[in-house]
Amino acid sequence: MTQDTLNKQAAAVEDSSIEKSDLPKPQMKFATRAVHAGSPHDPVTGAVIEPISLSTTFAQTAVGAPVGVYEYSRSDNPNRSNFEKAVASLEGARYALAYSSGSAATANILQSLAPGSHVISVSDVYGGTHRYFTQVAAAHGIAVTFSGSIEVDINDLVRPETKLVWIETPSNPTLTLVDIRAVAEVAHSYGIKVVVDNTFMSPYVQNPLKHGADIVVHSVTKYINGHSDVVMGVAAFNDDTIYTRLLFLQNAIGAVPSPFDSWLAHRGLKTLHLRARAANENATAVATALEASSHVIAVNYPGLNSHPQRYIAIKQHRNGMGGGMISFRIKGGAEAAKRFCQKTNIFTLAESLGGVESLCEVPSSMTHAGIPRAEREAAGVYDDLVRLSCGVEDSEDLVADVLGALEAVAQEFPSKQ
Ligand SMILES: Cc1ncc(COP(=O)(O)O)c(C=O)c1O
Repeated sequence: MTQDTLNKQAAAVEDSSIEKSDLPKPQMKFATRAVHAGSPHDPVTGAVIEPISLSTTFAQTAVGAPVGVYEYSRSDNPNRSNFEKAVASLEGARYALAYSSGSAATANILQSLAPGSHVISVSDVYGGTHRYFTQVAAAHGIAVTFSGSIEVDINDLVRPETKLVWIETPSNPTLTLVDIRAVAEVAHSYGIKVVVDNTFMSPYVQNPLKHGADIVVHSVTKYINGHSDVVMGVAAFNDDTIYTRLLFLQNAIGAVPSPFDSWLAHRGLKTLHLRARAANENATAVATALEASSHVIAVNYPGLNSHPQRYIAIKQHRNGMGGGMISFRIKGGAEAAKRFCQKTNIFTLAESLGGVESLCEVPSSMTHAGIPRAEREAAGVYDDLVRLSCGVEDSEDLVADVLGALEAVAQEFPSKQ
């Protein structure tokens, strides 16, 4: 191949990459943005899928003049940056910053507050978030007040030093919803910022920034990556001051994801809309079957009309979707809940959620075991509560699996039915 041909090929690739870098337009729909945001063709080879950039350092032509925009991989690297652009696009945000876990995202946000700050949080946050608030943030001089009904209580709980309101909607594991706009309006009237943990819904079902939140966080480990093979976190927001502060802390604390994890999570994100729709469809079928079962005390699923805050799901979630997560109270107490999780064949007994495979667990003994019983039960996390994460398998098989396990448990605990 002559030099001339090589030059022409390079020019053609460059042209197409310029065209491609225009994609997606902000007005494009979710699925187009999921596939194309942060996904430029490689300008040198034309590779449609970005290469994994493992280099920890980037050459400079003169002191302080790097060849491209990158200098050192903790500060920024191509795979993380592309992933962050994709998440920002899907959350309708100007900025996103990725972390080595969802918990690291939480820690970075809490560390952005000065000692002496006060935070108001919903009571039934993820157990690890509760642990961070009560055992780590507290040691750094940050006080957290928990509320079981934040929309009602917020005015009474605000103090002069309150800087942040932390919402998880739906909450974990009771699937309680919070009206983000109602809380944000009150918080903003005091100059308080609102963070929403959107892990359970994913950016496909809910975009908290559009409802008035200032920061949205995700455990990427769950729906965004979606294949149970990466631990990662992300925060997205619009405000320049928040960006400057969190960008500084992302680099200074250094809890950043590897290029390989960023690449994997970005690959997972490209099919988020397909997986989220399938999980929603499956969870709707399973929740409906559970609600009709005589072996079940109560079902928590925001897609059911019986959910006490269904009206919030209708205004806050895409098409009123309920998502892929369900929790329910089984007849027979703690032992029945534990046995149920051993009797399913497709639902695997394991922590975590949001993957292509269905999972089940007992929060009081697993994910939420660290929360004192009285506090746990006040939030509705009883020993007989089972949490299900519906994957993307066939819905008929999932329904049969759950009903079969309920029947098997009922035979073991007949007196408690
Ligand atoms: C709602 C929610 N937020 C945050 C986290 C923490 O994320 P990670 O496990 O990626 O640190 C989890 C983990 O289960 C979670 O369920």
